[in-house]
Amino acid sequence: MAIEKVGVVGCGLMGSGIAQVAANAGCQVTVREVSPQLVEKGLQSIDKNLQRLVDKGTLPQAERDKVRGRLRGTTNLEDLKDCDLVIEAIIEQLPAKRELWNALDKICPKTTIFASNTSSLSITEMATFTQRPDRFLGLHFFNPVPVMKLVEVIRTIATDPKVNEEVVAFALRLGKTPVRTTDRTGFIVNRLLVPYLLDAVRALEEGVGSVEDIDNSMKLGCGHPMGPLALLDFVGNDTTFYIANIMFDEFKEKRFASPPLLKRMVLSGWNGRKAGRGFYDYSDPAKPKPMQMT
Ligand code: 3HC
Repeated sequence: MAIEKVGVVGCGLMGSGIAQVAANAGCQVTVREVSPQLVEKGLQSIDKNLQRLVDKGTLPQAERDKVRGRLRGTTNLEDLKDCDLVIEAIIEQLPAKRELWNALDKICPKTTIFASNTSSLSITEMATFTQRPDRFLGLHFFNPVPVMKLVEVIRTIATDPKVNEEVVAFALRLGKTPVRTTDRTGFIVNRLLVPYLLDAVRALEEGVGSVEDIDNSMKLGCGHPMGPLALLDFVGNDTTFYIANIMFDEFKEKRFASPPLLKRMVLSGWNGRKAGRGFYDYSDPAKPKPMQMT
């Protein structure tokens, strides 16, 4: 079965990016948010991204209009009833996900594939909120979704291998490179990335280097597009703190334990770019100022 109609639940940073790349690949996409204001905000962010591509000359205006024509927003979950695939990108809280999957399981036909974009919660547990664990998997995108080429396709012990391959083919159609992985907290990327980010905070705490020097070391010494502290600000310190806590809880390994400084930054609301302050001060977004450790 080819995936043509796609539902995306949640039109924030990740959901809007997923909706954009699916519409760009020719799918009919319905995005659902909880209020008309959030639907509007999500669609505006997609419009901004598409316009950026038009301005750069990588997307012809006529093609932009076609992509936009394939996207519609709604607040009504029932509008996802004829989707071949529903991708969930809502808040990382299990009770909210349970409520959503319970409802969608009743609305969508048995053939609809359900996928979660979660970065840390158990896909297996979410599948139990439905009567279709064989058609349930993880589909984890990376920020910024239109730019990052990778998608993790996460199967549980109950996922039908044919469904897994259909979703791998869908990811390829989006122009992404899918990797197949299993339902272990953090999957591949965060399992490797989170200890690295936490270690960068430990290095800063221990005075191994300044914010700027730690970031420059990994940028210039290892060719990373961003240093680890800038990446923490980009992803959100609260998000990484949250993921690390879930990973620590799952594996009980020291490498996933959040350093005290990260916890204190989250307690202070210094969550990175979106908060205007993190390891850098973004008062002037064009010239972020690194935090000075006293
Ligand atoms: N949306 C769409 N396109 C964007 C964008 C956005 N938010 N931000 C940047 N771009 C595009 C630009 O238009 C530009 O396109 P072009 O090459 O065709 O001109 C290209 O990306 C490069 O952008 P810039 O020149 O403005 O800036 P940079 O060269 O610094 O690149 C970056 C920005 C792509 C964000 C780059 O710094 C990068 O790759 N950083 C690492 C990001 C990363 O590691 N993401 C994964 C985070 S982990 C995660 O998401 C998992 C979760 O579970 C935590």
